[in-house]
Amino acid sequence: MKNDLFYDIDLQKVPEHIAIIMDGNGRWAKSRFLPRTAGHKAGVETIRTVLRECKKLNVKYVTLYAFSTENWKRPQLEVDTLMGLLAAYLKNEVKTLHKENVKLTVIGDIEKLPSQCIKELEYAIELTKDNTGCNLNLALNYGGRLDIKNALVDIVKDVKEGKISIEEIDEDTITNHLSTKCIPNPDLVIRTSGEQRLSNFLLWEVAYAEFYFTNLHWPDFDEKELQKAIYTYQNRDRRFGGIK
Ligand code: FPP
Repeated sequence: MKNDLFYDIDLQKVPEHIAIIMDGNGRWAKSRFLPRTAGHKAGVETIRTVLRECKKLNVKYVTLYAFSTENWKRPQLEVDTLMGLLAAYLKNEVKTLHKENVKLTVIGDIEKLPSQCIKELEYAIELTKDNTGCNLNLALNYGGRLDIKNALVDIVKDVKEGKISIEEIDEDTITNHLSTKCIPNPDLVIRTSGEQRLSNFLLWEVAYAEFYFTNLHWPDFDEKELQKAIYTYQNRDRRFGGIK
């Protein structure tokens, strides 16, 4: 395994959870005089490559920001293409994911997605729910602020119903009401394509995450770049607010 590595990664210390903002599909396509949708198709290939590498390196959780609550503002053709790619990806990949012991989970309001996507998602989630290998977590119609708002509403309901008192509310109460409650916080957030912002992604959860930005567009990101991100992460000094 060590011989397969492009970077001197410590395989005992790979991030447990990598969250990825897959940006730049449109720019990748534009630079090749292709329609934006071709960029998204190429982006799906990168998802396959990166997931394969994550499994190889034993990354336990991978969260992909596939569609935000704001992405509905895009032209209908693009939204339809993204939804079509999602449904096709799930349909084609579900058996392989299951065979490879991948557990598929979702964060975000999937009820608003086209029925075909919901059907494929529900099938894949149910089929893979007991798998113990890598957890592929898809953020779909996801927004960090909306997730925090939803948590708040649920907590207020619990207070009103007397299940919890105001004095008992602490940070864990909020954490445990988010859609990410079953997965650990990301250790590493990767954003491709040169932008250096969170775009409403996992706002609560990334409090102590390390960030890795690259100018590469998502379709150009590959296993070597993933290793570079992990290598960079391993050479950071994570202090979580304390001192060494
Ligand atoms: C960002 O590129 C990418 C997206 C908004 C969508 C990512 C989704 C996929 C690759 C396919 C569907 C998902 C799965 C899980 C199969 P951009 O369009 O914002 O690029 P730009 O900033 O260059 O315009």
